[in-house]
Amino acid sequence: MAIVDEVVALQSETLAAIEAAADSAALEQVRVAVLGKSGSLTAYLRGMGSVPQEERAEVGKTVNTVRGVVEEALASRKAALDAAELAASMDASAVDVTLPGRVQQMGTRHLINGIIDEISEIFLGLGYSVAKGPEVETEYYNFNALNAPEDHPSRGLADTFYVVDRSNDAHKHVKGESGVLLRTQTSPVQARVMEAQKPPIYIISPGKVYRRDVADPSHLPQFHQIEGLVVDEGITFGDLKGTLEYLCKQIFGEERKTRFRAHYFPFTEPSAEVDVSCGICHGEGCRFCKGTGWLEILGCGMVDPNVYGYAGIDPEKYSGFAFGMGVERIACLKYNVPDLRMLVEGDMRFLRQF
Ligand code: DAH
Repeated sequence: MAIVDEVVALQSETLAAIEAAADSAALEQVRVAVLGKSGSLTAYLRGMGSVPQEERAEVGKTVNTVRGVVEEALASRKAALDAAELAASMDASAVDVTLPGRVQQMGTRHLINGIIDEISEIFLGLGYSVAKGPEVETEYYNFNALNAPEDHPSRGLADTFYVVDRSNDAHKHVKGESGVLLRTQTSPVQARVMEAQKPPIYIISPGKVYRRDVADPSHLPQFHQIEGLVVDEGITFGDLKGTLEYLCKQIFGEERKTRFRAHYFPFTEPSAEVDVSCGICHGEGCRFCKGTGWLEILGCGMVDPNVYGYAGIDPEKYSGFAFGMGVERIACLKYNVPDLRMLVEGDMRFLRQF
């Protein structure tokens, strides 16, 4: 075969190889094999000297043309392969923006805080404000300033968590030197507010209280109370009744009745416990109300003149009432929860209902 024909055949072989190269590495191999230092086309250029005189011009021209054609084919194939490789790598690392996101689990307000907020709103609407007191309280404010007798059983180490026990100390009655405890009731806030503020006083005070009880369906060692205190001129038991009746209807519904039973608390005189009619049997008597038709919801009374004495308020000029309720108990009565412990166990299936 004439040299020119060989070169033309090389061109078509090379173009076929270029077309068949599957990736840029394979294409580079084709380039080196044809146009590299010892490539097949390069060999024809180098060997021009040995081509017979009469063929030389035509062979030279053909080799150059073939080189141009091959270079062009290499460049266009390389561009195509590069584009395909870029597209493939972009596909491989792509983020699918149409996938749905991961849903964050949202918490909800706990039922206990819900009840505290609900009752606070009711009293804020009546013009009360919210007062705060310490959970680590002195024995003086928790008991003495509330007229609790020295031998009151709840002062005992078996009922109350003491931080500092001064029960054998001669100074135990002195305000600044009494024992320190986890408050057993929110009532000490009454004493603190009366010391700090002159009447008229209209406050509520929600917060945690602690007692040395083992948790069972109706007891928790830590729970919440809401205290209330009103001191003003001309306040009567009628005001107390009206206020608490309004409260019960707001919490439990218009159709619920209330009743006041005489009771004893050291810091109120007279004192009463308030019951609300049972929401399950509507007063007939059932298991929930233990057959009585009534559910006890709070303690209350007219502020004892002795308590005014500790706070330096003139009992001839002012009178007032106080009340205290257990928040967990109200939550359970409102939603027919049979066991206080369900409120603190953190079972989401239970808590999500509120
Ligand atoms: N502190 C009382 C208790 O924990 C509840 C109570 C009763 C509060 C009568 C009062 C009240 O303010 O007047 O059992």
